[in-house]
Amino acid sequence: MPKYDKILRDALSGTRPSKEQRRKLEGLANRTLAITKSIAKRYKAKAMLAGSITRDTWLPEKNEFDVFVLFPENVKEKQMESAGLQVGKVVMAKLKGTHDIQYAEHPYVAGKVGNIGIDIVPCYEIASTEHLKSAVDRTPFHVRYIEKKLPLSLSNEVRLLKKFLASNDMYGADAKASGYSGYVCELLMIAYRSFLGVLKAAEKWKPGEIIDLEKAYTKQDEPKLVSMFKDQPLILIDPTDRKRNTAAAVSAYNFFKFKKFAKMFLDSPSLEMLLGREIKPITEAELIQWQMQRRTEVLVIKFIPPKVVPDILWPQMRKFGERLQSILEEAKYEFKVLSRDVFTDETFIAAVVLEMEVSKLPSVQKRIGPSIFDQKDSENFLSKYKDMAVGGPYTEDGAWAVEIKREFMAARDKLVDSLSKPLDILKAKGIPNHIAERIVNGFEVFSETDRIMQIAERNKEFGVFLRKYFEKEKLV
Ligand code: UTP
Ligand code: MN
Ligand code: MN
Repeated sequence: MPKYDKILRDALSGTRPSKEQRRKLEGLANRTLAITKSIAKRYKAKAMLAGSITRDTWLPEKNEFDVFVLFPENVKEKQMESAGLQVGKVVMAKLKGTHDIQYAEHPYVAGKVGNIGIDIVPCYEIASTEHLKSAVDRTPFHVRYIEKKLPLSLSNEVRLLKKFLASNDMYGADAKASGYSGYVCELLMIAYRSFLGVLKAAEKWKPGEIIDLEKAYTKQDEPKLVSMFKDQPLILIDPTDRKRNTAAAVSAYNFFKFKKFAKMFLDSPSLEMLLGREIKPITEAELIQWQMQRRTEVLVIKFIPPKVVPDILWPQMRKFGERLQSILEEAKYEFKVLSRDVFTDETFIAAVVLEMEVSKLPSVQKRIGPSIFDQKDSENFLSKYKDMAVGGPYTEDGAWAVEIKREFMAARDKLVDSLSKPLDILKAKGIPNHIAERIVNGFEVFSETDRIMQIAERNKEFGVFLRKYFEKEKLV
């Protein structure tokens, strides 16, 4: 296909590792594997390479490989955890590298030698995925499956797919990305045989799309699968474990976004779409213009992010945003949020952005009571509101009504009030734990353009985030 040839060739030249990069990564991987094997032996454990290095599908910009340490099933979980970390630490010491401990289902060692990343992940060696103890135990099965089914001639096609997804913020099954993992990319390549083949298929996907490479299920099972993998728009059955959807992390947003981007690329391919374009932070004039055009108020709730791993931080950020919206939208306050999003650089700044449809209200509020004929309810209503009434009680269309002084005239005041509470109350109110612990030490709520721009100028990523917020992706 001549229309695509040159673009794909040009894209690949930066997406494929150079001879030198390959020599370095593969050399270190083999050395690491040999060392890991010998250390693991002390614990009767084995070692193997896993992930993208095994099928040569890694991207030079990630420059990382994965080593798995396989423990016999009879080792107790606590013991396998500590031995797993011990092996990782000793290996990294022998490689004269640095490391830190990362937390997934089990902790593991994430090391660094020069600019090369090394994940050393402990798991159980199991006979079949039916005896799975944790999610990582599937990985050795994945390695063997991919080795068997993905020809090396398709490695660069996988690279193009990974690059395309990464350039457009859809690569990775972590909570932040909620997208397509490396393994998913490899399985899609096995199914559709080329980068363009994957795009052509994706363009036609429908929510609840089922891809079942090994025909683990029949046509009649399809409705059952959709309910089994509820709320997962893409169902890519793990060929090594039919009970698992490997694409479970793909959000509805990224499902449709991929379809849209696939179509855009097929219709008018560009190198920019594949390699990504730089998005500029929003400018002050644009921010003012957006708000004037939309006649909304942008409220920012800013605080220092808690020191927890991203896979905990991001879901808590989203939950916090949801909770703030529901606080403002409690019936008695009458505020309304048009839309919301969350931002964090995971170190210095965390922010919830609420674009308000109703954020300022009059100082009076009307309460409509029961029918004048419901005597009991009327008595209750009148005794409750008589003294606080600033207008009425009066009747309207056969019911009691009263005007009272409004408690919060500005959404911002309500937020400041709700968040200025002791820790136990914040938690009881449904503010996620780690975030509540930060909020008690301080937070800021503001909507002034000056203040928003100050943050955006200090933190470019935040400025880019705001641009993306207003220039919403058209998904169809
Ligand atoms: P990676 O995230 O490194 O993916 O996980 P990958 O396939 O090698 O792709 P790239 O090129 O690095 O992006 C490698 C394997 O390790 C397991 C995954 O299941 C995957 O099969 N893994 C790794 C986890 O399950 N949890 C982790 O926290 C890390
Ligand atoms: Mn990897
Ligand atoms: Mn990894």
